[in-house]
Amino acid sequence: MSISYCQLSEHIISSRDGIVKITFSSPVAGAEYPKITVRPVDIKSGQVWQAERFRENKVYHLNVKQDEAARYFESLAEEYRQIAVFLGGETETYSRSGSGFKCKKSGNSMKAPTAASKQNNRQKEYILKEGDNIPALVDLGVFTSDFRVVNSKYDKYKQINRFIELIDDAYNDYRGEDITILDFGCGKSYLTFIVYYYFVKVKGIRARIIGYDLKADVVENCNKIAEKYGYGDLEFVVSDVTKDVLYDRKIDMVISLHACDTATDYALWYAVSRGVKNIFSVPCCQHEINHSIKRGGELDVFLKYGIVKERVSALLTDTMRAMILEDYGYAVDLLEFVDLSHSPKNIMIRAKKCKKISDKNLAAIEEMVNKYSIEQTLYRLAKEDRAH
Ligand SMILES: C[S@@+](CC[C@H](N)C(=O)[O-])C[C@H]1O[C@@H](n2cnc3c(N)ncnc32)[C@H](O)[C@@H]1O
Repeated sequence: MSISYCQLSEHIISSRDGIVKITFSSPVAGAEYPKITVRPVDIKSGQVWQAERFRENKVYHLNVKQDEAARYFESLAEEYRQIAVFLGGETETYSRSGSGFKCKKSGNSMKAPTAASKQNNRQKEYILKEGDNIPALVDLGVFTSDFRVVNSKYDKYKQINRFIELIDDAYNDYRGEDITILDFGCGKSYLTFIVYYYFVKVKGIRARIIGYDLKADVVENCNKIAEKYGYGDLEFVVSDVTKDVLYDRKIDMVISLHACDTATDYALWYAVSRGVKNIFSVPCCQHEINHSIKRGGELDVFLKYGIVKERVSALLTDTMRAMILEDYGYAVDLLEFVDLSHSPKNIMIRAKKCKKISDKNLAAIEEMVNKYSIEQTLYRLAKEDRAH
């Protein structure tokens, strides 16, 4: 027996409590996404269907409210030929047949979701929650006017929340003086605004924060937003962090989130050379080693295939950075910053100054640099420093 698009949509909605997930695959020509997975989740504002739409290794999220679900599922039924509804103990697979769908049932081992597992944990764990009154985030396009996360900004929202969580680990008990923070390659400055909000509004600590970026129009817009909300100690400056004169008095923290390529090295060096206490840096586009590395030893096998070479070079870059920071007296962790599905650039270098300068890693780094003809900016800056 065949069922219509409407009946299928109604069946999905009425089975909500038993559904683990639904997958939509085998799209018709012109469908925007090759595959979509939808799950029922409960968020603060109520029940929604959360869709993950997959395209070219990226995931795009969308929350569909209950009263919009019928239309949404009908439109998906028109666009996909294969729909699998995963229930507690079985899977219903619907295949397009004429103007409707035919159903085949099969057993599976997936457990029905408990109320707890259906709670959308993005609500539970974050320091900054949807619904928090942070108007600057509305101006920046991360929140809607009623302080919900804009769907296309969900990955960024997740990243800045995680960043704040890690800063919070370091500053949770902080009762000290005012602090000064520099953000290298701040871009549209979602993170910079949130760090300011966290210290000043959440913790009640006076924080002076300066964001640096090359882009004059973006910097101008950020300054306007800071001014609009009376964020007096938050400032943005057009600068090339690789060569311009930057703030040079007491600095407590340096942060960077996806500052391109060697901009991260200059951020790290700026912090190291001034003995800045805390560094939180998530690098990206680590091109330098990938472009310079030559065959020379045991690592040669990783240089054979372009994609592997690129990834190994990025990992080598961040390993060298961490080792150099250690030599400059920092305790360093490399952490998974967010899940790979939210950003492929997902390693954070977290460093805290707590020891004396040493050269315990220098010889190993030098050997590697020479063996594989590596060029690496933080290493070069450190070497120039040691030569003086
Ligand atoms: C990928 S964006 C990240 C922006 C922001 N931190 C975020 O995560 O949303 C990288 C930013 O670094 C800036 N940037 C790159 N090289 C720079 C340099 N040498 N000096 C200052 N900013 C730089 C770019 O203009 C860009 O806005």
